[in-house]
Amino acid sequence: MSSTTAAWVNPLRDRRDKRMPHIAGPCAVVIFGVTGDLARKKLMPAIYDLANRGLLPPQFALVGFARREWADEHFSDVVREAVEQHARTPFRQEVWDRLSEGIRFVHGDFDDESAFERLAERLRNLDEERGTGGNHAFYLSIPPAAFPVVCEQLSKSGLARNHDGCWNRVVIEKPFGHDLTSAESLNEVVNSVFPESSVFRIDHYLGKETVQNLLALRFANEMFEPIWNAHYVDHVQITMAEDIGLGGRAGYYDGIGAARDVIQNHLLQLLALTAMEEPVNFSPAELQAEKIKVLSATRLVEPLDQTTSRGQYTAGWQGSEKVMGLLDEEGFSTTSTTETFAAITLDVDTRRWAGVPFYLRTGKRLGRRVTEIALVFKRPPHLPFDATMTEELGKNALVIRVQPDEGITLRFGSKVPGNQMEVRDVNMDFSYGAAFAEESPEAYERLILDVLLGEPSLFPVNAEVELSWKILDPALENWAANGHPDPYVSGGWGPESAFEMLRRDGREWRRP
Ligand code: BG6
Repeated sequence: MSSTTAAWVNPLRDRRDKRMPHIAGPCAVVIFGVTGDLARKKLMPAIYDLANRGLLPPQFALVGFARREWADEHFSDVVREAVEQHARTPFRQEVWDRLSEGIRFVHGDFDDESAFERLAERLRNLDEERGTGGNHAFYLSIPPAAFPVVCEQLSKSGLARNHDGCWNRVVIEKPFGHDLTSAESLNEVVNSVFPESSVFRIDHYLGKETVQNLLALRFANEMFEPIWNAHYVDHVQITMAEDIGLGGRAGYYDGIGAARDVIQNHLLQLLALTAMEEPVNFSPAELQAEKIKVLSATRLVEPLDQTTSRGQYTAGWQGSEKVMGLLDEEGFSTTSTTETFAAITLDVDTRRWAGVPFYLRTGKRLGRRVTEIALVFKRPPHLPFDATMTEELGKNALVIRVQPDEGITLRFGSKVPGNQMEVRDVNMDFSYGAAFAEESPEAYERLILDVLLGEPSLFPVNAEVELSWKILDPALENWAANGHPDPYVSGGWGPESAFEMLRRDGREWRRP
């Protein structure tokens, strides 16, 4: 393939063969928390999709661990139902038959040592029967409060040790702590059992195609880099908006809130990829070094009362559906101060970004589901037109549309046809759907495969997690000391305080 026609390959993923997808080696995946939503909607379907794409070896096994007294066959039925409902690729009987031969279930409590002995024994049997080779990935899809006990049990039962060329890895879901101090102690517990090289922390945004394309856009092209800095960029807006509410999620969400749920991880990772310097290569260590550098330089802009905003949705309309406010949602305390919307202003203190605010916002029950990163450019220093000719001209913008409708939009001024010189904003669009025939894999497919391949590029290391808490903690403390979040009507774009936050800076949020 000549360099001019070379298809883009994921620079993060593949440092050896540039075209062939890697197939995982013999191994077993053990999921703790198989009865949860994440396992049912994302993890089990992703494992099937990998099998369907031929990316799992015949020597593969899936083991569920939970309190229920299920037989292997019953668990297999549960997996099948999850696959039929949520898998991305079509159901194929022969793929399912092969996968289901390696499905096992172990019941027990996390504090029951004998349950972990049973687990160890079943894994040994699988090594013999299926040839899983002593390689195990332990997926902790469980509340963080249970991490210490599960890690300790894995350690006691000898399952955390890497030996004789076999690997044992642990996969951890967020929330990873609820502030810097708790994250540090969690990291300590996990690292006392698993070396950092065996810990894979999931931030599923890093598995999204469009997020990885950010690196291709920045570092595989020449035309963006010269303007990717404070000389040209006025500010950056990173938005992750959802239209869904929190019905059914109180157990996880009440007391956590939007900032811990989304800003601490997904949005700060997006900021890091947008603002970091070019790594010397795409080895995990180099990439992490650049992310760590930029996160170390990032801090909240003060005064926090004016540069941050938090809100809680009230009843309203989501399209044609009437929806309730958070305080009426099942499971939430009627006096809950949990925020469902959060916005913050950050400075990145580097030569590249000094003086360019990064505005981050996220919320539930907003106008529509959209995640985007928008670089909004400065106005030209001089416009050789009458003011009336450019009345409709806004600031240029480069928008990375993370989801849905994945792609990139470039907004710039163009002459309106006619005798007058009138300039108005137009959009130039790149759309994944139109440009590529292949469908993107789900983030979880990519990330689970990377765990099995031992490829850590897309997983934040503990330093990144801790730095992200360090950035966010002052806002959380300020909000905790200041009563109730501001109300906003469901179906809108957040509380008035969020609009005011940008207005004060002479800017406004984009309406995606
Ligand atoms: C999760 C959050 O990490 O991301 C959820 O905990 C949120 O609250 C979800 O709904 C959104 O993921 P996606 O991939 O649909 O944007």
